[in-house]
Order: sequence, then C-alpha cells, then structure tokens
Amino acid sequence: MKQSDTLPGERLERTAILAWLREDDPTRLEDLWSAADETRRRHVGDEVHLRGLIEISNHCVRACGYCGLRAGNREIERYRMSADEILACAHNAKAWGWGTVVMQSGEDYGLQTAWIAGVVRRIKAETGLAVTLSFGERPEADLAAWREAGADRYLLRFETSDDELYRLIHPDLPGRSSDRLAILRSLQRLGYEAGSGVMVGIPGQTYASVADDIDLFRSMDLDMIGIGPYIAHPETPLGDHSWAREISPDEQIPSDELTVYKAVALTRLVCPESNIPSTTALATINKEEGREMGLMRGANIVMPNLTPPEYRVKYEIYPDKACVNETAEMCRGCLQGRVEAIGRVIGAGPGGRRRVAGS
Ligand code: 5AD
Ligand code: FES
Repeated sequence: MKQSDTLPGERLERTAILAWLREDDPTRLEDLWSAADETRRRHVGDEVHLRGLIEISNHCVRACGYCGLRAGNREIERYRMSADEILACAHNAKAWGWGTVVMQSGEDYGLQTAWIAGVVRRIKAETGLAVTLSFGERPEADLAAWREAGADRYLLRFETSDDELYRLIHPDLPGRSSDRLAILRSLQRLGYEAGSGVMVGIPGQTYASVADDIDLFRSMDLDMIGIGPYIAHPETPLGDHSWAREISPDEQIPSDELTVYKAVALTRLVCPESNIPSTTALATINKEEGREMGLMRGANIVMPNLTPPEYRVKYEIYPDKACVNETAEMCRGCLQGRVEAIGRVIGAGPGGRRRVAGS
C-alpha cells in the first residue's frame, strides 16, 4: 500500500502527507478531494464566510524577498487610507451583511498604535463587525493595545517552517530578529483568534518542508490557515531569481494550482475545524475557477477586497492580482454567484472558529 492510500478516519501522519503532496494520479487525487470536501462539510458546514479585506497602507519597513511592497521597491506609489475612508469600507461590509473586516498593511509604523486602536474602536462601535488585523510583526505592546480596543483576530503567516529558507527570504531588521511562531503564541495568549499560513512553491522550498508546514498547523491550534501559491514579482530579489537557494529539482515543490489544492485539502484533513480561505493568490493563478476549486477542496472562507479602487492597484504584493480592476460592489455580486453555483451559501454573522465544547 502506498502511503497516499491513507485517508481520514485515520490520523494522517507526516509521511502520508508527504506522499499525498507528491501524488499525481488523478483518480487517487479524487479520493483526496472528496475526503477534504466531506470533512469540510461535516465540521464547518456549507456556509462560505466573507471577510472584507481593507488594504489600509502599502508602506513597509521590511525587505521580504518575495513581496512587492518591500521597502526597497521604488516602483510603487505609497499610500495610507484615512480613518474615515476605512470606516466607509466597513459600513459597506455591514450593509451587505458581511460579518468581518480585515485591515491589512505592510509593516508600517506610520500607522501609530493609538491611531489603529482608535480605528478599531470606531469600527466596533459603529458596525459591531468582527475585526481582524494583519499588520505584520508589530511589538507585543501594540498587539495588546489593539486587543484591548476590541480587535478579535490577527493574521500572520509564518510562510515556511523551514528555518533556513525563512531566514533567507526574511532578512532581519537591525537589532531585531523575526520569530513569527513566537508572535503567534503571544497572539493566542492575548486572546486573539490567530490565523497563519504559508506560500507554496517558494524557490528553494521542498515537498518535505511543506509536509512539515501542514504538520505544524496541526500542532498550533490555529483558527485560520491561509495557503496560496508563490507568485514571482519582478521587482523583488526572489522574483528575478537572484536569491534562490540551491536544492535538487526533484525536491522543489511546484507553485502550481494542483499543488496548492493538495496542500489545502490535506490541511482541512488535519485541521478539520479551522477556517481555511480560498485565497486571492489562488484566484489569481486560475481566474476562471481557482476560488471555486479551493472551496470544493477544503476551503470555507473567501476574502473579497473592499479597498477603494484607487488604492487597490497600488497594493501589488504580487503581479496581476485578482479583482484589482473591480469595485467591491462588483466582487460582491460575482462572489454571490460563484458560491451559489457550487451549491454553497454565503454565511451570516462573524463566522468565528467553531470550537468543540470543552476544548
Ligand atoms: N506570491 C504569493 N503570495 C505572496 N504574499 C506575499 N508576497 C507574495 C507573492 N509574491 C503573501 C504572503 C503574505 C500575504 C499577505 O501575502 O504569504 O503573508
Ligand atoms: Fe472580484 Fe469576482 S470576486 S470580480
């Protein structure tokens, strides 16, 4: 029996995860898709929860090797949204019945701690929506202040569990080291629902390390797990291939959609209760049906973009991002149709992590 014969019911061990990541027989993969879809249905139901994404600033002090917002990229025009502009987006989300807004930015200390706390308070007071933050590796005091202000969730992907690759693509700031796993633990201690995730197909990333990532998701008790394909950005060191780590071609995990679906499906099997988005990066590499395929292979969340059009074109983490030329209103109609076409329903309410009683 091949390791990839193991499917749920049984605990999926790391060796089986690895075998499934390398599986390329379409008939066998059908078993993986249906197991993931069934597990999703049984544990988090048919509702697809929408998290409205507001990209509030594209300033960033970091130099992540893959990201178009990196400080060294002089080709983009930087912006910060005003508090009133952000509130207007949140009011749209509220009016459309969405349960959550996600505020995201580069690691931007121009967004001062107290200012962000004030925006969180206003969103909570004026809309009552769940508030998710995604502002990078801010100090623990900032995270505590925002939790105090009412923020519910925080997203910080650890990107890869491979230490050497992590350090290669995340140069430290002077006098500071980058330890996202420690920050995730702090977030959980502070009472946030903590979300994390990885990119799949980073140059120098092995199949084995993605199997480790999925194994790590299981042990971290994450509320949300985002997985997307790595997409090369030409204005970055990784994107123009000047940085890649040497590994054997047979070890390199691809960044194609099939591999991402496998990672999403396996993650659903090992973390049945977690919220798993069908990511924008997936929708970017297959604009016709990437989002739907993610939802049919384990995912239960979509994060439609609420950012005003004049800003969203400037938030170019990677090129040719899905929905850059659409308005929030257009995405709203589009998503409704896409979700219903696959026999699912848009979720009502905040759609927080379901927890088994007593756990
Ligand atoms: N390709 C795919 N995903 C990317 N991200 C950043 N840059 C890229 C890229 N070039 C993802 C990272 C980050 C999230 C906000 O976007 O995983 O955590
Ligand atoms: Fe944006 Fe379909 S979700 S256009």
